[in-house]
Amino acid sequence: MSIKIGIFYFSGTSNTQLVTGLIEEELIKQSVDVKIYNIEKIINTQQVVDMTQYDMIGIGHPIYGFGPPEMVEKWVKHLPTSQSQKVFIYKTAADNISINHNASGKIIKKLKKKNYHVFYDRIICMGSNWLTEYTHALVRQLYDAAGSKVVHMCQDILERKNRLYHPSLSLRLLTNFLNTCEDRFLARIFGKTLRATDACIHCGKCVKHCPSKNIHVKDGKIKFKWKCYLCMRCIYQCPTRAITSNIFKVFIVKKGYDIRKIVANRTNQKDNTKFAEHFKSYLEDPTL
Ligand SMILES: Cc1cc2nc3c(=O)[nH]c(=O)nc-3n(C[C@H](O)[C@H](O)[C@H](O)COP(=O)(O)O)c2cc1C
Repeated sequence: MSIKIGIFYFSGTSNTQLVTGLIEEELIKQSVDVKIYNIEKIINTQQVVDMTQYDMIGIGHPIYGFGPPEMVEKWVKHLPTSQSQKVFIYKTAADNISINHNASGKIIKKLKKKNYHVFYDRIICMGSNWLTEYTHALVRQLYDAAGSKVVHMCQDILERKNRLYHPSLSLRLLTNFLNTCEDRFLARIFGKTLRATDACIHCGKCVKHCPSKNIHVKDGKIKFKWKCYLCMRCIYQCPTRAITSNIFKVFIVKKGYDIRKIVANRTNQKDNTKFAEHFKSYLEDPTL
């Protein structure tokens, strides 16, 4: 009988969604009965999922400020108690440096309390959608590497291999604190500083697709409330790039960020900046 896996993910700008798709493809190849759920949809439509039907659960999220997105924390908080199901976590990030190693620490703690057994935790680098801009060549190289890492990861989880980070207490305290500040203060303030410029064509895409329902129309104008998750989706999905921040322009990648376009635009070009040097062994070794 084939194993049944439920995968739950959140993705702001599609990096995690693409990796989730790669995992789904690989698990199907391995004859796994796999079902994918978008946490955003579950929360916003109050969908009830029977978790007991799954032998194993996967959770995917981007790293935001060295931790999980607030939406993922909320979802985990409301999960029912488990009968000790096995859980694997994958998160996409700009880098796999050690300060990111506690990025699922908060949710792992909550899952443990609910009797879920997290046995696997892994970072997949997919490029940066804020602050630092990677070249498109490097993003493509990272995406290709993600493909082989996913194959390796699926092998590991089907063999129930343990793989966990063991961040020190000081790293845990520091990154949990920074992530809470990011969630509670920085994201809220950032959201409130957003505005739609005259380039706005009132297509309503930002209102419709904001995961926290932070954007609304008032007197014909796009308005932002205090509930931003800092996912950057409204900024990069806007067809006229009309959304910007009054104060935090530095967070926004200047040329925009569209991973699907970058990946679709295939070239054999290799990145030769200092970033590529930094990622050299990560790109070459599927086990990293
Ligand atoms: C607000 C914010 C904070 C981020 N913080 C980190 C971080 O601490 N470490 C990191 O490696 N990447 C960080 N990133 C980059 C994202 O984790 C990365 O681009 C991720 O793949 C985005 O996934 P998504 O497209 O599924 O949202 C951050 C991105 C955003 C928007």
